[in-house]
Amino acid sequence: MTQLTKGIFHSPDITGKAVLITGGAGFIGSNIVEYLLNNGARKVRVLDNLSNGFKRNVEPYLNNPAFEFMEGDITSPETCAKACEGINLVSHQAALGSVPRSIAFPQQTHAANATGFLNMLVAARDANVERFVYASSSSVYGDLTDSPKVESKIGKSLSPYAVSKYTNELYAGVFALNYNMKVIGLRYFNVFGPRQDPNGPYAAAIPLFMDALLNDKDAWLNGDGEQTRDFTFVQNAVQANVRAFFTPHPEAFNKVYNVAVGENISVKELFHMLANIAGVPAKPKHRDERPGDIKNSLADISLARKFLGYEPEVKLKEGLAITFDWFSKNFK
Ligand SMILES: NC(=O)c1ccc[n+]([C@@H]2O[C@H](COP(=O)([O-])OP(=O)(O)OC[C@H]3O[C@@H](n4cnc5c(N)ncnc54)[C@H](O)[C@@H]3O)[C@@H](O)[C@H]2O)c1
Repeated sequence: MTQLTKGIFHSPDITGKAVLITGGAGFIGSNIVEYLLNNGARKVRVLDNLSNGFKRNVEPYLNNPAFEFMEGDITSPETCAKACEGINLVSHQAALGSVPRSIAFPQQTHAANATGFLNMLVAARDANVERFVYASSSSVYGDLTDSPKVESKIGKSLSPYAVSKYTNELYAGVFALNYNMKVIGLRYFNVFGPRQDPNGPYAAAIPLFMDALLNDKDAWLNGDGEQTRDFTFVQNAVQANVRAFFTPHPEAFNKVYNVAVGENISVKELFHMLANIAGVPAKPKHRDERPGDIKNSLADISLARKFLGYEPEVKLKEGLAITFDWFSKNFK
């Protein structure tokens, strides 16, 4: 486990809360689980079907009396209802990530990300949960070229994945309106960190680069590598979830927030930075650009600062060093 997840920012008192993390066996979800248990949450329940996550990500907690693992699928309304029983706060992370996956299998993406999301909203409403925080995505900005991205203006979606995440935001909005639910959406921008999976056809760039540098494999840049991203260390995403659970701001609800650092860098430059950390020469290879990919991505994070009190505490270089350290212990 990462030592970093032990109270990096001053956490509100979570000792009285029972929290459900859907997708808690995945990358971001398991980092949220770790934070909550390290900070004394009364109960942390994970609902995950292990389609893209791993039991090993929550293995250290299986004997913790405050932890409960439910293997199940959010496409089942009954499973979602069961998972919400006795829960105060929901952090909904379960989804099938990846733009290319959604282009290859749009129905799978829709089932997990749109139908599953609606099931979770209904279950959370029926269980009267206090707050429902969910993972949206910067992909919602689609073809918008404005920079930095501000929450109030989005473009046309470029993939089924983006459509599914935008659908989440629309549903969350009408549930807040019609059922008075306290919902908060988090548009994550390229999250990276310990436990992000480098394997499989839909792995993200940073874990692939880590694996390539550590294990002497080819590292591929899509196109010229000049596309930019606002890479966000996972601990910042964890912080955003916890702040959303506890923000006292009366106008914080029924909104979506950019969760990023507010700084961007080209993928090529990032690769060189990583090679430098790894202490090996950077020799990336180039291949075609990916369909559905956006050219530049940079977030304006002032809304999250204002309403959630969010402040990204771990910047890119530090986050990459922590992540590299973790990968060298786990994937070499
Ligand atoms: N990683 C990023 O950069 C990023 C960026 C934007 C948005 N997001 C969103 O953040 C959330 C977490 O992403 P992640 O990177 O941790 O991905 P992940 O794949 O590691 O985690 C998602 C988890 O959800 C589970 N899951 C998928 N379908 C399910 C279903 N039908 N029922 C129950 N569980 C299911 C998977 O098994 C997995 O453990 C997702 O909603 C993703 O779309 C991630």
